[in-house]
Amino acid sequence: MAVDVLTTADGRAKTALSRDYARQWFAAREAGDPIAIGDAQPPLHPSRPEKPELLNPRDVPRRRPGSAQGRIAILHSVAHIELNAVDLHWDIIARFTDTKMPMGFYDDWVKAADEESKHFNLLCDCLEAQGSHYGAMGAHAGMWRAAEDTVDDFMGRLAVVPMVLEARGLDVTPGMIDIFQSAKDTQTVDALKVIYAEEVGHVAYGSKWFHFLCGRHDMDPKEAFHQLVRKYFHGALKPPFNEEKRAEAGLPPDFYWPLADKLPPHSQN
Ligand SMILES: [Fe+2]
Ligand SMILES: [Fe+2]
Repeated sequence: MAVDVLTTADGRAKTALSRDYARQWFAAREAGDPIAIGDAQPPLHPSRPEKPELLNPRDVPRRRPGSAQGRIAILHSVAHIELNAVDLHWDIIARFTDTKMPMGFYDDWVKAADEESKHFNLLCDCLEAQGSHYGAMGAHAGMWRAAEDTVDDFMGRLAVVPMVLEARGLDVTPGMIDIFQSAKDTQTVDALKVIYAEEVGHVAYGSKWFHFLCGRHDMDPKEAFHQLVRKYFHGALKPPFNEEKRAEAGLPPDFYWPLADKLPPHSQN
């Protein structure tokens, strides 16, 4: 199922398949007849549509919040992140089956993959309501890098993808909601509120299973997290952090502040 999603190129087709497999997964779980985990060879790069063209970040259209075109560019970049997230979630399901995990791990990732699929569709709906669509402009080429860098490191993947990249989403989404609120685009505000609420869960799944694996190997989670993020994530983490939502997701300040390029504001006291 995971490899089917990963090898489907079209965004709407990929998310339709993803949501259908998630329904099948949970129906089987509820019926007490769970689908076997099995094993498969996920591709190194997931299939993607011909458009958008993948560009160096400095060539991606500017995202100025003050204009309708700028807001479409913001929506487009978030849709691109969500499509990438769909693939990231199915990839972690298929990639690390050599490590035996409780079924609850797969439940969490299938649920999150389903939600990422919904997020992509919601943002495509918003783009289409503005007369645009996913693929209408260039998008960031570097999105799959975290997956490539951690292709053989399960704990590294958990540290960098849910606990750094998705946690960053919690920091920036409230500002994005404000932008669309000011523009009176209620459709996008509603979509971003759904995304914001559900992304807390995705970060929490990352933290939960990262701590689980640390416990299994008798490792100190905070030290392991710092070491893996320094190894696989390029650059410092950027404050301001959404400390409240990060706490809700099981990420305490001593995990991320030591990796930031500034000192915490309360460190002066
Ligand atoms: Fe998402
Ligand atoms: Fe997510």
